[in-house]
Amino acid sequence: MTELSGKVAIITGGTSGIGLATAEAFSARGVKLVLHGRRQDILEAHAARLPDCAVMAGDITDPDTPKALFDLAQERFGRADIAFSNAGLIHGGPVDDIDTEKLAEMIRVNVEAAFRFAYTAVKHFKAQGSGFLMNTGSVLGTKVRPGAGGYAGTKYAVEALSEALRLELAGTGVRVAVVEPGLVRTDLHRDHSVRPEVVQGVDQPLTPEDVARAVVFACEQPRHVLIPRIMVLPAGQAV
Ligand SMILES: NC(=O)c1ccc[n+]([C@@H]2O[C@H](COP(=O)([O-])OP(=O)(O)OC[C@H]3O[C@@H](n4cnc5c(N)ncnc54)[C@H](OP(=O)(O)O)[C@@H]3O)[C@@H](O)[C@H]2O)c1
Repeated sequence: MTELSGKVAIITGGTSGIGLATAEAFSARGVKLVLHGRRQDILEAHAARLPDCAVMAGDITDPDTPKALFDLAQERFGRADIAFSNAGLIHGGPVDDIDTEKLAEMIRVNVEAAFRFAYTAVKHFKAQGSGFLMNTGSVLGTKVRPGAGGYAGTKYAVEALSEALRLELAGTGVRVAVVEPGLVRTDLHRDHSVRPEVVQGVDQPLTPEDVARAVVFACEQPRHVLIPRIMVLPAGQAV
């Protein structure tokens, strides 16, 4: 039994990468899961494998999604304790050369959907008098590099969201934090022609499990403790 055993976690971006690794780490600690992503077949495979796992497929930019996820948690498990707002995507390129339609899509997923999800999560947790919202930011939400202005901009917004909520919710029993990974080997960079670790000179990127350990560590702290930001970098990333 851990601090987390019996709790209920909603995870967006739960089909793969960091979201899936965190779902697995939570599950190993007795947490019940509500997983979201677009790939229904993959969600169903996770639900068949992980105990107490409900799933919902859809686009995170649908404004009805956050409430539907909290309703599902209520229906299946009677409550929600943790919300991991993790769905995201990356499009790179210099500001005057980036595909602006892809940029707009990234802003909808990484920023608009994160704010909408937080809006619903915080209302739910405030009414309950407890709850933990963890947002996935990035080291690129704390510093910019050429060619990553669009993505960094979305993750700076996630930092602002997380910090504003931390201040607004102090003393309510609702905790908000942000995890800031460096380079992680996941499907996020699937469209890149050259592997990002080669471009960035990182000998060994993080695994999704490395980030999941940090998320679990933050979430399992006693209620009077908050780790508001947790940056996890590959030791070899000179970012
Ligand atoms: N990998 C890195 O180096 C790195 C570093 C820092 C931060 N991050 C952040 O970590 C988070 C997770 O990314 P990852 O690296 O684990 O990559 P990933 O394996 O590609 O995971 C992205 C997740 O987001 C979901 N998603 C994307 N667009 C969606 C949409 N429109 N509607 C619903 N779900 C959507 C995907 O689900 P479906 O495809 O099933 O829809 C998937 O589960 C992202 O916020 C990313 O920005 C990653």
